Amino acid sequence: MKATYRSALVTGASGGIGEIFARQLAAVGCDLVLVARRAEPMEKLAAGLAERHGVHVEVIAADLTVDGDLERVARRLADPERPIELLVNNAGAGSRPPRPFHQQDPAGEEVKVALNVIAPLRLTRAALPGMVARDHGGVLTVSSIAAYWPQPHGATYAATKAFLSSFGDTLACELAGTNVHVTTVVPGFTKRGNGVAKGGPKSFTLPEFAWLEREDVAAQGLAAVHAGVPICIPGATYQAALGLTRLLPRSVLRDLFRRVWGS
Ligand SMILES: NC(=O)c1ccc[n+]([C@@H]2O[C@H](COP(=O)([O-])OP(=O)(O)OC[C@H]3O[C@@H](n4cnc5c(N)ncnc54)[C@H](OP(=O)(O)O)[C@@H]3O)[C@@H](O)[C@H]2O)c1
Repeated sequence: MKATYRSALVTGASGGIGEIFARQLAAVGCDLVLVARRAEPMEKLAAGLAERHGVHVEVIAADLTVDGDLERVARRLADPERPIELLVNNAGAGSRPPRPFHQQDPAGEEVKVALNVIAPLRLTRAALPGMVARDHGGVLTVSSIAAYWPQPHGATYAATKAFLSSFGDTLACELAGTNVHVTTVVPGFTKRGNGVAKGGPKSFTLPEFAWLEREDVAAQGLAAVHAGVPICIPGATYQAALGLTRLLPRSVLRDLFRRVWGS
């Protein structure tokens, strides 16, 4: 298969779902810019992908919550000499440890907003003018199913993901009819590396069918942005769960999540 996008910048590419985005893009011949704080895993990944697929891979070690670093990445995205055809806004952080909002470290909550909201906002703003001028490009942003449900002990995380879902939906609307595709991918619980299933409510263990594979999340997100589909919810389990919970009054939903997550 030939790449729809010849170059992509992937944030959060030093591990997790971001690493898989990078692997899948390289496999179809897409040149890459990898961004995260830790240079070492990205350098290793870059060397392996370049050797295996013959693609050009650049590494930018940057903390996207630090203004100067974010600006550096934004400038790379906007560089007309080396156009980036696909931006993957993947880097994000949840609530560690999960706690009620009033017990969370206030500075830590603001860092989450910087990483999950300000960084994708700034990078998307940097990438879009060139894509619109070329009438070709894609922005794929990783939100979460948490965007649609109350999430006791993860209020800021859920709210940042709600921002991304709403933001992406409107951008897709603004750019409809162009060849610049904006897609928001909305994963549920996704296994870590080596198939490790970690996370979820404390009150019960999530069943196996509730866990997504990183490979499926990345593949479905990339297929959706290629096809110009604005929202992608990987997995029948989460499509059904979201559909069902949309039928419930918000008060019932809050009560349900308070019982399941809040204990
Ligand atoms: N896993 C899930 O169950 C799940 C479910 C729904 C949505 N998501 C979303 O999917 C995305 C990827 O999640 P994941 O599970 O793959 O997470 P992960 O394994 O924790 O990876 C996060 C990536 O983001 C990078 N990162 C973290 N803080 C950063 C910062 N300040 N500046 C630059 N890069 C930073 C990390 O690299 P460095 O540490 O090297 O910086 C890492 O490459 C996130 O947006 C997450 O919210 C995940």
